[in-house]
Amino acid sequence: MFDSVYHNLIKIGYTHPLHPTITHLTIGLVMAAFIFLMVGYLSKRDRFFQTARHIFVLTLATLPITVLLGYMDWQHFYKGAWLLPFQIKFLLAGLLLIFLIVSTLLAFINQSGSGKLVITEIVCLLAVIGLGFFGGELVYGPGGKTTGASIEKTREALANTGNMVFENNCSACHYIDRTDEKVGPGLKGLFQMGTLPVSGQTANEESIRKQLATPYKNMPEFKSLSEEEVTALIAFLETI
Ligand code: HEC
Repeated sequence: MFDSVYHNLIKIGYTHPLHPTITHLTIGLVMAAFIFLMVGYLSKRDRFFQTARHIFVLTLATLPITVLLGYMDWQHFYKGAWLLPFQIKFLLAGLLLIFLIVSTLLAFINQSGSGKLVITEIVCLLAVIGLGFFGGELVYGPGGKTTGASIEKTREALANTGNMVFENNCSACHYIDRTDEKVGPGLKGLFQMGTLPVSGQTANEESIRKQLATPYKNMPEFKSLSEEEVTALIAFLETI
């Protein structure tokens, strides 16, 4: 869906995910608001609360951009796979948004701070720490044991799942290591061939999804496969 954005960025030499470019701003702002609130309480000076208030507004302004870029990276680099770290990140981002709005409102209602504000701000702080932690898990691998290359790792895991889906649903009729026919055409190098072997349509995610939903001729339809299974299956077909 956002592939064209990334393709244009590649043209100017930018190949990285977009979310990390802004996420530290949001995280830093939540932490800064917390520090100013605490200093406000300790020094009993309203101007620190005022700074915290301004920071809340800034954070609210950056959060939607951070979430949008995260969503785009998820769609592009992870094919929108609904894996646990992403589920947790979406949940925490929702929590952060709600508590940030409440904190901002509380900060404007009671300009000298309040106990409630400290609690809602602590929830925001915990949410960003959690978001950072699971972002780290995605970038550096579980437990930080592996460095980098985790996008490839996730895709590899996805392709492995796809391999299983293929074994259970497709292998009876298709070879993956050759191009000669079994019941249907051999699918080796499907994406490299450029066109699908029988219909001659461009080989891409869309045409394969179409083949599964409304087959070209005699192949049975596979409407029962879930969205996750089809995504994994396509990630696998890209590797053969
Ligand atoms: C019962 C046998 C059978 C099964 C099972 C089967 N296929 Fe096929 N497949 C065929 C036949 C036959 C064709 C030739 C085109 C047609 O009849 O639609 C084909 C064609 C294809 C093509 C090429 C389509 C084109 O436009 O050239 C792809 C890609 C494909 N199958 C993928 C799959 C995948 C992925 C699965 C598993 C989810 C699968 N097939 C399961 C029989 C099967």
